[in-house]
Amino acid sequence: MEIRKEMTPAETALTPQQIESIRQLRLDFSQLIMHHRFVIDEVLTKISILREESVHTRSYNPIEHISSRVKSPRSLLEKVHRRGLPLDTEIIRREITDIAGIRITCSFIADTYHVLELLTAQNDVRLVEVKDYIAEPKPNGYRSLHAILEVPVFMRSGPTPVICEVQIRTIAMDFWASLEHKIHYKFDGDVPDRLVGELTEAADAASELDRKMERLHSEVREGSVDVDS
Ligand code: GTP
Ligand code: MG
Repeated sequence: MEIRKEMTPAETALTPQQIESIRQLRLDFSQLIMHHRFVIDEVLTKISILREESVHTRSYNPIEHISSRVKSPRSLLEKVHRRGLPLDTEIIRREITDIAGIRITCSFIADTYHVLELLTAQNDVRLVEVKDYIAEPKPNGYRSLHAILEVPVFMRSGPTPVICEVQIRTIAMDFWASLEHKIHYKFDGDVPDRLVGELTEAADAASELDRKMERLHSEVREGSVDVDS
């Protein structure tokens, strides 16, 4: 409804149908956010079971750190607007795949792939998309394994499939990405060329460190190095 200056309050008042559709939209929106909170709980449980089982059976913990967040309603609405999507929660649910986000930090590159394999091997996890920025880093040097998963949350009305974005990376990749994010934010996306160059160099150094650590780790695990000497 177009609101012009010369309109009287009675003319700008909402019709009962408009009030009802706003009420419905608010309900749908809060349900959308709630489903994404639940899917995070489901996936976090899966990850912590995988971690504990690995510690129990292999005495090895492949996961260093886990963090998660649900997109705030404000930043979700900003993204909906940026992407030119309608205010329709079914469309938003399908199109915006990072409402629920989980970040897993592993010590070694091999662990990142292994954790994803274990997660997606589960019957109720559907792998929607993988973006392997470890095999193919972004031009700025960003590395990470991204997966879009669809996992059911069990509501009173039955199982509801909900999308969750999982980012899996090593400690070195995470260190780099946090700094890059801060710099990107500080310069509002317009990072000076010199810093861009230095960041890309730092990404290569982080990647070299990952390779070195992985090699050392496998030497120790395979027993070719005497750990007591
Ligand atoms: P959006 O960027 O979320 O709209 O989705 P996309 O389709 O471009 O997905 P992509 O896989 O490229 O990135 C999703 C997320 O990965 C981002 O929200 C960031 O958390 C992270 N990410 C991607 N690229 C970079 C990067 O260059 N630097 C940092 N620090 N994080 C990045
Ligand atoms: Mg992006």
